[in-house]
Amino acid sequence: MSISIPTPHIAHLTEEDYEHVYEPAEDSFILLDALEIDAQIIRDDKPIICLEIGSGSGIASTFLTQLIGPGSSLVLSTDINRYACKVTLRTAQANNITLNPISCHLLNPLTNRLKGKIDILLFNPPYVPTDSTELQDTQELRDIGGSWAGGNNGMIITDVILDQLPDLLSSNGKMYLVTIVQNKPLEIINKMQLKGLICKEMIKRRAGRELLSVLRISRK
Ligand SMILES: C[S@@+](CC[C@H](N)C(=O)[O-])C[C@H]1O[C@@H](n2cnc3c(N)ncnc32)[C@H](O)[C@@H]1O
Repeated sequence: MSISIPTPHIAHLTEEDYEHVYEPAEDSFILLDALEIDAQIIRDDKPIICLEIGSGSGIASTFLTQLIGPGSSLVLSTDINRYACKVTLRTAQANNITLNPISCHLLNPLTNRLKGKIDILLFNPPYVPTDSTELQDTQELRDIGGSWAGGNNGMIITDVILDQLPDLLSSNGKMYLVTIVQNKPLEIINKMQLKGLICKEMIKRRAGRELLSVLRISRK
C-alpha cells in the first residue's frame, strides 16, 4: 500500500519571494512524487543523514523530513542562493519541522565529513542547457538565475555531484535526481552503472515543454 504524505505548506511565500527564489513547479513536484513512491523503503532504511542540494523554497527537504517522521535522521540542506536558505528556514517553521540550511556551493564545506555517510541525497538541479557564460554569471551572482542555468547539456553542475557520488553515498545510500530529456538521462544511467551504481528512471512525465524524469541512483 502506498503512503500518502501531504504537500508542505508554502502559502507563506509571496510574489516578492519568488523574485529571488525558485517557485515550486512541476520539477519540484515530480521529486516529491518519487519520494512518495519510495516512502516505505526510505522509512524502512531508517536513514541517518539526508541532504538536499539546492533546496530553494525548502519544499522537498520539508517533505522528506515529514516522510521520515520523528527519529534520529538529520536532514541537511544547502543552496548557493542565500535568500533561498532563508526561505527554506521559513518553510520549515511554517510546517513545524526543523531545518538548518547552509549557504554554499553544492555541499563543499561538508564533503569531507559526509563521505560514505549520505543515506538520502536529493537534487533538483539547474538543468536547463545554457552557454557557459550564462552558467558562470548565474553561479557567481547566486541569485534566482542559478535555479535553471545548467551549461552544456544542462549538466555542468549535476556532473560535479555525479562524479563524487560513489564516495558520498553510504552502503545503503540513494540519490534522487531530477532531469530533463536534454540532460540525456540514458547516458546518465550508463555513466552511473559504469561507476558501479544502480540507476533507474523512476518517473517520466511531460510538463509543458519539458520532459521530466526522476532518476534513483543507489548502491543496492
Ligand atoms: C530548480 S531549483 C530547485 C529548488 C527546489 N529544490 C525545488 O525543487 O523546488 C535549483 C536550486 O539549486 C540552487 N543551486 C544552483 N546552483 C547551486 C550550487 N552550485 N550549489 C547549491 N545550490 C545551487 C538554486 O539556487 C536553486 O534553489
